[in-house]
Amino acid sequence: MTLPTEFDLTIRNGRISTASDTYHADIGVRDGVIVAIGSGLAPGKRDIDAAGRWVLPGGIDSHCHVEQLSGMGMMCADDFYSATVSAAFGGTTTIIPFAAQHRGDLLPEVVADYSKRAAEKAVIDYGFHLIVSDPTEQALKHDLPALIKSGITSFKVFMTYERMKLDDFQLLDVLDVADREGALVMVHAENNDMIRWVARRLAERGMTAPKYHAVAHTPLAESEATNRAVALARMMDVPLMIVHVAGIEAVRVVHSSQALGLPIHAESCPQYLFLTAEDLDLPGLEGAKFCCSPPPRDPESQAAVWQGLLDGTLQMFSSDHAPYRFDESGKLPKGEATTFKDMANGVPGLEVRMPLLFSEGVMTGRMTIERFVALTATNHARTYGLHPRKGTIAVGADIGIWNPERRVTISTAMLHDNVGYTPYEGREVQGWPEIVVSRGRVVVEGGVLDAERGSGRFLVRGTPEPVLRQRLNGNPNALVRKYFGSHPNDE
Ligand code: URP
Ligand code: ZN
Ligand code: ZN
Repeated sequence: MTLPTEFDLTIRNGRISTASDTYHADIGVRDGVIVAIGSGLAPGKRDIDAAGRWVLPGGIDSHCHVEQLSGMGMMCADDFYSATVSAAFGGTTTIIPFAAQHRGDLLPEVVADYSKRAAEKAVIDYGFHLIVSDPTEQALKHDLPALIKSGITSFKVFMTYERMKLDDFQLLDVLDVADREGALVMVHAENNDMIRWVARRLAERGMTAPKYHAVAHTPLAESEATNRAVALARMMDVPLMIVHVAGIEAVRVVHSSQALGLPIHAESCPQYLFLTAEDLDLPGLEGAKFCCSPPPRDPESQAAVWQGLLDGTLQMFSSDHAPYRFDESGKLPKGEATTFKDMANGVPGLEVRMPLLFSEGVMTGRMTIERFVALTATNHARTYGLHPRKGTIAVGADIGIWNPERRVTISTAMLHDNVGYTPYEGREVQGWPEIVVSRGRVVVEGGVLDAERGSGRFLVRGTPEPVLRQRLNGNPNALVRKYFGSHPNDE
């Protein structure tokens, strides 16, 4: 076999890390894919000396909200341009945001609209998840199967938010479709009635400041719903993804489910490592900048999330970037009279997700670089049907070249999103992705973007790996199929 010797791009002398290995080598890229890894490769048309730098797969952020209406009807502050630019500057080269169905919406129309918005503006590659809030007969029988076949192979469902939540019967219906069609269900697990009950009593007592958001969204609401979601997935014998795990009890539910051998997967996010409920307790409405659901919790939960990320209970580290400005458009819809029930939920984090974990995980010695790569890139690709073209140093050519010595003080001014604040203002991190490559194109270098609006591509995703694995294990949907033949919905 002759190795290619002509490259569009070579990255030489770097220290390459994947989720499994670290080694020194050169990388040769041609036509947007890696065609050679070795030593002493011929110079490319573009030649980057990465000596002293760490060459990592481009990050994948599989949980971020972009150009999406929230359950409360508020539009995100970031569109596909600002979000993908911000992601790229932070070392992320693929995002998977949500085409969100609101009640009454037809899924194909939601996806058509979202596709148009993304195609016009994205500068890096992207896939879509769906949010399913209206599982009608049409959606379950026709639209979801068709959209899964078109490469949208995962969808999120909510157990809370008045206008988005599904009841348990509907959740079972959605899990059933996922099982039939080979998709992965992601669940926002919080008990809506527990939150509503506490919130009403707080409001009656005039306790409406942002800090009460963390009181209403009690950790018990999270762990109860997580446990229930696991039970529903067990009943259907399907894998499940628990998103944005925040509290120690929820981590324990995930951990014990996995110990039973159940295919329960989970992610967490920067806000659950670096913020606590105390951050919501600021003068006036300032705490709204830290309000997300589930809310940041306490040091014990932070420690449990760290442990979960290290021991594999939590396989992914996503941003759950939910960008809302600190004004009437998002966090303060009623101005000074805004209560914690009125404000848009969510915090930004697309650009700082990887640097925060690199600094606090890898540079402190808490986490290996291979684990960092798994948590920020490879496991996302595997879980959501993008491996190996994304999330590793293999065929695709999405790469971040990190300077492990570079110290950066995070500030709103240096970020590229459209939020106008960051919960991490003033925090110093060590290590930064100085050069970012997307499909062989150097899209960020020297603090400058070089990527056309609309140059990102839609990724048709394959069957998620948890689903594949479950099928290989012969997922028989045993209990249900015993009585209904091959499938309960079969005629
Ligand atoms: O508060 C959050 N997380 N907002 C974004 C929507 C969601 O639930 O992920
Ligand atoms: Zn959520
Ligand atoms: Zn989210």
